Amino acid sequence: MKRIITSLICLLMFASFAFATGQGDGTSAAKGGEVEVLHWWTSGGEAAAVAVLKQLLEAEGYTWKDFAVAGGGGDNAMTVLKSRALAGNPPAAAQVKGPQIQLWGDEGVLTNLNDVAKAEDWDNLLPKVVADVMKYKGNYVAVPVNVHRINWMWCNPAVFKKAGATIPKTWEEFEAAAKKIKAAGLIPVAWGGQPWQEATVFEIIVAGVGGTDFYKKALVDADVNTLKSATMVKVFKTLRMVLQYIDPGAPNRDWNLATSMVINGEAGMQFMGDWAKGEFTAAKKAPDKDYIAATAPQTSKQFIFNIDSFIMFNVADKDKNAQKAMARLIVQPKFQEVFNINKGSIPVRLGMSEEPFDIPARLAMKDFVATSKSGDLVPSMAHEMAVMPDIKGAMVDTVTNFCNSDMSAEDAAAQLASAVAAVK
Ligand code: BGC
Repeated sequence: MKRIITSLICLLMFASFAFATGQGDGTSAAKGGEVEVLHWWTSGGEAAAVAVLKQLLEAEGYTWKDFAVAGGGGDNAMTVLKSRALAGNPPAAAQVKGPQIQLWGDEGVLTNLNDVAKAEDWDNLLPKVVADVMKYKGNYVAVPVNVHRINWMWCNPAVFKKAGATIPKTWEEFEAAAKKIKAAGLIPVAWGGQPWQEATVFEIIVAGVGGTDFYKKALVDADVNTLKSATMVKVFKTLRMVLQYIDPGAPNRDWNLATSMVINGEAGMQFMGDWAKGEFTAAKKAPDKDYIAATAPQTSKQFIFNIDSFIMFNVADKDKNAQKAMARLIVQPKFQEVFNINKGSIPVRLGMSEEPFDIPARLAMKDFVATSKSGDLVPSMAHEMAVMPDIKGAMVDTVTNFCNSDMSAEDAAAQLASAVAAVK
């Protein structure tokens, strides 16, 4: 933990120095100023979603400079962001989430957005838990975009029908369905063998097999005894069982290619956050007809959340208005509606009508409210919401090692606990 923070501090000290000396002052073409926006939204659904923000900004006379770094889950984007900061040239806005916002805030390189927040009434329009994450020492330094739910299972009903299988509600039922789909000559699970995707399925199993309290102790508190417990062994056993039903093409497959396998009927299901729904929408597929959006086994009463947000860096005066316009537009209803319909997520702004949204989004909206009352609303570990990057790294590495070897569930739980203990 300390190591990572120290390297970030060194990097940012250099960045602030370089910026103060003027090297970070990018050129902006339009009169209204420019925003350079670092994000990793490059799939069909994601690109359609982010295009909305570009259009809204351009309609106000600002210039959008796209800085897209491909790579699901954002690992590549974060590496590029650090090197841009190191070069003294951070973009105006960057897709950064959860506790990491505090690390950037510590360096004093972020823009204070309180004036926009006050004028737009963010304190009343955002859920308090969300607003708190966007603030550094009580000041807004980030803007939330949406709420994604992680614990989904995207199913192709034609595949299930062909195999005579039913949509599973438990991991036992999953195994029964997967066997049938395999016997019918189809791929049960569309799997993307990349660390962040493996970690996504892992946390879904942690929630389902262990329950909410176990999830919180394991993946939010990173409690070492919980990580090596018998329940965690059961989680890894379940993960091993699921891995029996993936295809040989899985290693390093991008998440959206896995979604395509469900869309085109090659595979029965995919476990993924609801950005996958953006791909179904972009392919003009309708829920409950062309695809079924079901909560992942044993998690119907839970909501693993993942909130996208942008941090804003200090920029030259001529681009300040453009940057603040971006912050303002993101929380306004127009963006919240159109962006989230394309993205597969739900609005982060309170009080939005559910009318324009599809059935899975309405279910997510209802469950977001219900789980925030019941205590079953939990942050995603795999998507940077729950723990600091070094702990997340230790967890994800262990899960990946497990998925790509014949490690036993017992050894995996022990390794998870010791890897986390080493960085805590
Ligand atoms: C982000 C989503 C994105 C997904 C796939 C997640 O971490 O929150 O916005 O669509 O990664 O890249």
